Amino acid sequence: MAAAEPFQRVDKVQLARRFGAAARHYDAHARFQQEVGQALLARMPQGGEGTVAAGHRHVADLPESGLDLGCGTGFFLPDLAGCCQRLYGLDLAPGMLAQAARRDSGALLLCGDAEALPFADQSLDWIFSSLALQWCERPVQAFAELHRVLKPGGQLLFSTLLSDSLWQLREAWRTVDESAHVNRFLGLSQLRHAVADGGFALMELESLTWQLAYGELGSLLRDLKGIGASQVNDGRSAGLGNRQRLQRLGEAYEQYRQPDGLLAASYQVCLGRLIRQ
Ligand SMILES: C[S@@+](CC[C@H](N)C(=O)[O-])C[C@H]1O[C@@H](n2cnc3c(N)ncnc32)[C@H](O)[C@@H]1O
Repeated sequence: MAAAEPFQRVDKVQLARRFGAAARHYDAHARFQQEVGQALLARMPQGGEGTVAAGHRHVADLPESGLDLGCGTGFFLPDLAGCCQRLYGLDLAPGMLAQAARRDSGALLLCGDAEALPFADQSLDWIFSSLALQWCERPVQAFAELHRVLKPGGQLLFSTLLSDSLWQLREAWRTVDESAHVNRFLGLSQLRHAVADGGFALMELESLTWQLAYGELGSLLRDLKGIGASQVNDGRSAGLGNRQRLQRLGEAYEQYRQPDGLLAASYQVCLGRLIRQ
């Protein structure tokens, strides 16, 4: 029997509002997101297919068009601008795009949804997408859209969060109450199926653990809030709760304090490279 298509209910109006509201301060809380995006940038195709270090190449030699999907504040747009002749930045949140517009990247910015892309079939040479696809309602639909708009031979480089992300926080919350306080993400094999069901036959998926360390739990919670990524699944967010619950959460999290005195917080990240045949 075929496995059910993964689905998570996402209120996209609220999601766009939340990310938009965080946009002005996002970069100050996005150390992890910047590291992941840099790792993805380093995997951009080299040589004849467009490269970050393409400054020395003739513009006409570059691929025609590339997209940063879920571009957020546009942190990666200036680098990506060297990888194609025409760069698009697309995001669900107008507030994020307003920040992206302040960068000198020459990118054409579009407000849109990864699950219903405003591009013609087979119109893009490459797509870069860092830490945005995990917010989609139907991952298969998103990958099918990405497959549809890529030219044959075109590449999708993406990063997304996997199910073990922030497991310490999820476990600590469990000692406080039963609500879902931490977003749910796909496991690697579910993601692999979603990619294949979306139409991609050629894929490299790598699962990496990113270890972050914080002096106190409040700093981790402030980072999550600061980038607009507090709980979004099912609209059941219980918020951070009152002082007493936060205190219990803090006590429960202490078991993850490491010998160096810092609290561990880990993310499981998938870095993927897909080729449209
Ligand atoms: C964690 S931020 C990452 C931003 C940027 N790529 C970075 O690495 O700094 C996720 C971004 O994805 C956008 N996003 C979420 N769901 C989306 C969707 N369905 N379509 C397009 N963008 C989406 C959010 O608005 C937000 O700007």
